[in-house]
Amino acid sequence: MRATTITLTGAGGQIGYALLFRIAAGEMLGPERPVRLRLLEIPAGMRAAEGAALELQDCAFPLLSDVEISDDPRTAFDGCEIALLVGARPRGPGMERAELLAANAGIFGPQGAALGDVADDAVRVVTVGNPANTNALIAQSSAPDIPPERFTALTRLDHNRAVGQLAAALGANPRDIDGVIVWGNHSATQYPDVSHATVAGRPLIDALAERRGGVDAAIAWLDAEFVPRVARRGAEIIEVRGSSSIASAAHATVEHVRSDVLGGFRTSAAVVSHGEYGVPEGLICSFPVTSDGSGYRVVSDLGVDERSRRLIDASVDELVAEREAVRSLGILP
Ligand code: NAD
Ligand code: LMR
Repeated sequence: MRATTITLTGAGGQIGYALLFRIAAGEMLGPERPVRLRLLEIPAGMRAAEGAALELQDCAFPLLSDVEISDDPRTAFDGCEIALLVGARPRGPGMERAELLAANAGIFGPQGAALGDVADDAVRVVTVGNPANTNALIAQSSAPDIPPERFTALTRLDHNRAVGQLAAALGANPRDIDGVIVWGNHSATQYPDVSHATVAGRPLIDALAERRGGVDAAIAWLDAEFVPRVARRGAEIIEVRGSSSIASAAHATVEHVRSDVLGGFRTSAAVVSHGEYGVPEGLICSFPVTSDGSGYRVVSDLGVDERSRRLIDASVDELVAEREAVRSLGILP
């Protein structure tokens, strides 16, 4: 089978290190598909990427056809079929949000343009580096010749966090929990929604009500504990570990691409809005999605109750504000 070309940016960083070996082991695209890895770094990260490449060789992965490292986006994205945009500028001490957006626009704008110029015609682009949704929007806007639907951002980690919390609360196996949705931004405003979720085929809210002593108590737990815990889990991990999530972020990236490219059950991903659920067109927003292998599509026919509407709108408002901030810096049209 022909090898698939995957480009990873930030390959010398922490998530890069956790991700590379799983891709090369066949966990992202399956045990039959060979992969060709292109690692993009800035000069300061090149040695770390080179070290990772040495270790990849030492694993002697049968599916890994070759590895190349570059600090030039046009070289690293040449012929790229799957781009994993992980490298980003972290927020420094005292840095304002607008400064962070501007610094990242300086990365994701040129990378989007390079993808538009040299990537494979069928390229799919996943943004992980924060602020993920808006970085994805900047990359997408810089590549007008690539269909916008090919640009997605990672909220699978938030989705998995929600399932993990529910499994613990219900004493259930995560595999039995289905239909969770993460809406909005990959930030503390996101809304993890269980309105359509089931556990072992039964409405999840019923199972929760049984364990917590009624529907009102179940909803109180969702509002007071579940939603904020999931939405602030990134900050909790930073506080407890002393650095942001790594292995769980890499795992979610593997699953995001696998579901997109190989197809699978309904999940959550940030994809470009065509106005579904009243989300302004063009925003890259987390929705319920499925894929038959040809790319994520929004599942657009689910009911949204008043409580959910309010929470979705709050996160979408933040995405609109981020887009406006980037526009006011002259970065987006
Ligand atoms: P890290 O600092 O360990 O690694 C980032 C790497 O990117 C560094 O090696 C750096 O040299 C490189 N880099 C910086 N600018 C680059 C550029 N222009 N081109 C190529 N490489 C570049 O960080 P990490 O822990 O690997 O996290 C990476 C990003 O992922 C961060 O922005 C983090 O906030 C984000 N993140 C997102 C999620 C999510 O669910 N979406 C979860 C966890 C972390
Ligand atoms: C996460 O959700 O773990 C990260 O996006 C947090 C962060 O700010 O890096």
